[in-house]
Amino acid sequence: AAVEYGLDAPFEIDPHGSIPSTNARARDLAADGAEDVVVLADEQTGGRGRLDREWTSPSGGIWLSVLCRPDVPMAHAPVFTLAAAVAVTRAAREAGVDARIKWPNDVLVDGRKLVGILTEMEGEADRVSWVVVGMGINANVDPDSLPTDADPTSLRHERGEPVDRRVFTQRVLEAFHDLRSDIDSVLPAWREHATTLGKRVRVETADGPVEGEAVDIRFPGALVVDTDDGEVTVTAGDCDHLRPV
Ligand code: BTN
Repeated sequence: AAVEYGLDAPFEIDPHGSIPSTNARARDLAADGAEDVVVLADEQTGGRGRLDREWTSPSGGIWLSVLCRPDVPMAHAPVFTLAAAVAVTRAAREAGVDARIKWPNDVLVDGRKLVGILTEMEGEADRVSWVVVGMGINANVDPDSLPTDADPTSLRHERGEPVDRRVFTQRVLEAFHDLRSDIDSVLPAWREHATTLGKRVRVETADGPVEGEAVDIRFPGALVVDTDDGEVTVTAGDCDHLRPV
């Protein structure tokens, strides 16, 4: 099935039926000088996740990558990943699905993964050249066809009926555009939709595990954890929600 076209989005759309990876395609477009392009695919044959994992992307999902060139230093780029998580969460909630964000940018329903986000970028420390924000949205796919280790769910599974992928994609892109146009609105919106804040977490960081209560998020996307040794700010790592003790 071809992706529904005719999107009226604040981006140029580069639609595909089946391609290896929308992120890879967006990186190629970036190398050609493009900007504000959204690569869309019905199916990916070589989708990539975080930590170089595979991302299973059957027909029926919404696999997309936004290429943009924000005028910000590299260190601020994580805020675009948070913006993407907020954008998809808003669209999912509008579609009647109780989606919440797990730090930094997984979108979950009752602890099951609905959306994964992979951001790639290039540039100098003082200025991003391009950012590619890849969103893997399990839309009209059967969770049983996805790897079980991620404990996946899908919009269709949660709603009991499919979503209109054109409408859903349009809402995501409009929300993302609004957020990137008003960066100060991203963190408040993220806090509103987060499931991580107030929970006990264990984050595996490059410097070892950090365990405690997640108390806040700080620009451009760091998690503040209240540990036995005081507050620790974690900028990157794999986060697990723990059972309350
Ligand atoms: C994760 O590991 O949670 C991130 C998954 C990101 C998957 C999306 S699907 C669209 C884009 N193209 C890719 O190859 N990956 C991202």
